[in-house]
Amino acid sequence: MKKINIAIDGPSGVGKSTVSELIAKKFNLKFINSGSLYRAISLFFFQKLGKEQFKQILDEKYVLDNWNIKQLFLDPFGNLFLDNVKIENKDLRKDEISWGASKIAKYKLIRSQIVSFLQDYSEKEKGVIMDGRDTTFVVLPNAELKIFLWASAEIRATRRMEQNQELGFKTNYEELLKEIEERDFQDMNRENDPLHKTDDAILIDSSNMNIQEVVNKISELILERINNE
Ligand code: C5P
Repeated sequence: MKKINIAIDGPSGVGKSTVSELIAKKFNLKFINSGSLYRAISLFFFQKLGKEQFKQILDEKYVLDNWNIKQLFLDPFGNLFLDNVKIENKDLRKDEISWGASKIAKYKLIRSQIVSFLQDYSEKEKGVIMDGRDTTFVVLPNAELKIFLWASAEIRATRRMEQNQELGFKTNYEELLKEIEERDFQDMNRENDPLHKTDDAILIDSSNMNIQEVVNKISELILERINNE
């Protein structure tokens, strides 16, 4: 089967990673979760500074002076390492780490480091599915299929609460909704590469769809693209 590149953008908690992982398995593509790189930098500072200082001093100069992209390594299987230690997904998913990732993701130089890192990684072979906030227009502008995955903030908060429960974190719906709205605001209104739907991306509103329905819809689009290549 012909290999194509797929870019999926959308707000936090919309299910991009879950869907992308399933699509990657189904079509034998390499899955790259670009948000995990921003999260890994956030985790680095959280571990270095502790909860209180982390919230206070994560400004651009501090981050740039104390961080080097060479601290990150992504192996061919998609495992991410920070200072040679494999990062566990559950450590990246905590709400403080999400907050820090969104903050760090506003900084232009950090963004360009991560974009180069992702482009170098995905250049080696065709056949990647990458999700994020800028993959359709910055990281993979030539992707054969571009998707903008959407769901309302309320639905995303409910889904995130269920995920957190499965991971064993206790969370409050109102707080989660507020965090999601704050992150949406940061992601959609930042100066550098704000999240938006490009004209050539296909909108999938998953508010009333389950994961399998989204996977089926994207699978149809992939088959159409493969047949037209
Ligand atoms: O996708 P995820 O929620 O894991 O991403 C964490 C944060 O990283 C997002 O809130 C967003 O601010 C940032 N991000 C980004 N560009 C990407 C991927 C993630 O700005 N391509």
